[in-house]
Amino acid sequence: MSLTNFPGGNPSSSGVPITKVTMPALAEMKRQGKPISALTAYDYATSRLVDEAGIDMVLVGDSLAMVVLGHDNTLAVTVDEMLHHTRAVRRAVRRALVVADMPFGSYHGTVADGVANAVRFVKEAGAEAVKIEGPRSELVRALVDAEIPVIAHLGLTPQSVNRMGGYRVQARTADSVLQLKADAHALAESGASLMVLEGVPREVAAAITAELTIPTIGIGAGPDCDGQILVFHDLINLTFAPPAKFVRRYGDAAALIRNAVEHYREDVEHRAFPSDEESYHLPEAARKALQTEEAAGRMRTSPAIHAPLTLTAPSPKPKAPVSSSRLPSKRFIRPAQPRSLK
Ligand code: KIV
Repeated sequence: MSLTNFPGGNPSSSGVPITKVTMPALAEMKRQGKPISALTAYDYATSRLVDEAGIDMVLVGDSLAMVVLGHDNTLAVTVDEMLHHTRAVRRAVRRALVVADMPFGSYHGTVADGVANAVRFVKEAGAEAVKIEGPRSELVRALVDAEIPVIAHLGLTPQSVNRMGGYRVQARTADSVLQLKADAHALAESGASLMVLEGVPREVAAAITAELTIPTIGIGAGPDCDGQILVFHDLINLTFAPPAKFVRRYGDAAALIRNAVEHYREDVEHRAFPSDEESYHLPEAARKALQTEEAAGRMRTSPAIHAPLTLTAPSPKPKAPVSSSRLPSKRFIRPAQPRSLK
């Protein structure tokens, strides 16, 4: 099997061959000065869309604790929950590199425990790399020895929220900049393949990016990193909160979903859904057989099996005009019409 082939078939649904993104391929992108696109994803449908849109790296982030599971921070999510979501993402993604975020507590004890938990993400969920927060060079070395590529994560590390006293931009003093740079170098020398820099001044991220040979991926770290990552739910307005300064909204899924669901509810309430075309019909032979049963008195009389059956659906109640931005591409509102069972 070629190393660039996805097990179980390489071509995309359109038949075009897919070149799998690997960790060495991301390193090569840095060498060639090509920006790396990364996004979080947590389930089959959205990961599939993210992958088909050509994103290079999909991170099953522990941010799922907040954006998918509704926790106040990332600390509560468990290894089993992360595995569950990583498996779903793995089933969807063909091209992008799939990375699992190690959740809080899964690598904060012994190095051996950290390696054992990381092995689960690779073995049980198909992750191609794991991400860990903080300056943990010994663990990085052990993971690399275990053949597990590591993404280090420095700067604003959300799993340290209690120590940091909130989510604050990091490395804003000379001392903390020097510390961050030292940590970044140590992690790279220990074998980290990639480095996420979160919530640090642009100048600091730019300096680290220039100094390291491994790619940096920024989130709230300015445009000079080798790549960028955002939380999927931030990108499409599914967070129910004002976005952070570094977030750019590229779509409004909240409005789309709300409108679609409201229209569905209205259609159900007005009996405008489902229409006759959206219904299955009794085959003629079965209808005739049922009429025979009815005529012989072996079955209760039912107008619904008589032909020609012309039931008129109640007219949908008039709706408030909807602006085109509220409309999905096609609405299936059909006028009430006589129908005959086919
Ligand atoms: O969990 C997460 O979403 C992250 C970010 C770096 C995107 O760690």
